[in-house]
Amino acid sequence: MSHVINRRNFLKGASALTAASTLPISMIELAFADSSQNFSFAYISDAHIQHVKGKDFVRNWDRGLIRAVAETNLLTPKPDFVMFGGDLAQLGKKEELDHGAEILSGLSGSKLRCVMGEHDYYLDLGQYWEKLFGPQYYSFDHKGVHFVVLNSILTTDEWTFKRWPTAVQRMNEMAGLDNPNGSPFMVGDKQRAWLKNDLANISKETPIVVFSHSPLQKIYKGWNFWTDDAEQVQALLQPFKKVNVIYGHVHQIQYNQIGNISFNSVMATAWPWPYPSTYAQAEQYLPKLTVEMNRADPFFERDATGWQLINVATGNVDLHYSLSNNTSRTVAFNSKTGQPEDTSYQAPEKRIPPQSHF
Ligand SMILES: [Fe+2]
Ligand SMILES: [Fe+2]
Repeated sequence: MSHVINRRNFLKGASALTAASTLPISMIELAFADSSQNFSFAYISDAHIQHVKGKDFVRNWDRGLIRAVAETNLLTPKPDFVMFGGDLAQLGKKEELDHGAEILSGLSGSKLRCVMGEHDYYLDLGQYWEKLFGPQYYSFDHKGVHFVVLNSILTTDEWTFKRWPTAVQRMNEMAGLDNPNGSPFMVGDKQRAWLKNDLANISKETPIVVFSHSPLQKIYKGWNFWTDDAEQVQALLQPFKKVNVIYGHVHQIQYNQIGNISFNSVMATAWPWPYPSTYAQAEQYLPKLTVEMNRADPFFERDATGWQLINVATGNVDLHYSLSNNTSRTVAFNSKTGQPEDTSYQAPEKRIPPQSHF
């Protein structure tokens, strides 16, 4: 039986620096940090706010996002900013995006930035989302780290513009997890050209953090845990010394190292997906380093959902997962082995060398 941490007690413990050896690394480093360069940010993802009718929304998905916002507001010190990792809406509807934006507006004192998810995009191709949250891809610098936000859920013009009689049907086809009528995601030529240009004047020593919705690595095509031009994006990131890619979409904890690039996923606030290995109808590349997330207990509506606090003090990502109804977890970069590791659950003998390629 897992020990359930009450968030309020956890935060109290962290700020009082008690039982330091049991605290997640990210919180300890924040508490002891004396460098002005140290900072953290919070990451909330995959809320899937779903409109029913009138003012009714699916309560459970609302609750997940409301809880994440409330807990993020309790953090001391405050995260420098909060990322929302995509799939704010379920079917891209104005009502859903408005309602999601209203809940996110409850974040106090931390700047919000957003990543586009396929559930936000395929009704109007991101037009209303852009009005609320800004451009679909962009970059910014913060305390010596270069951050890049990509829209990784694009696909071919043929699929997007010619195949479906209505925008609603296009959205519905893309909303299914294992729908064979869906399309593999891609970043696309235009954004890759933009990325190349964006990175052109960045020193190779500068830590790079890339946010995408779908993984910029190929995990499982059957569920679109996949970006078709992932290798081409990775090639643009290879010259940099410290690169971290953080992605949503998979609703589960995954981490991986490919060459110089660390990959970390974030959890959903709506619901968890099982690992593809439990539904292995097709070839899949679930990273071998993953320590499986607990399977969701259906009697706890928030089980296996949560949000995450991310510390990039070292230029690599230490990612603390705050599970709503279960034991917190930390996946931190181990500079000795050169890969991310689960600091609590990953047995040393199970650590394997990083993959150089798929
Ligand atoms: Fe999602
Ligand atoms: Fe998604």
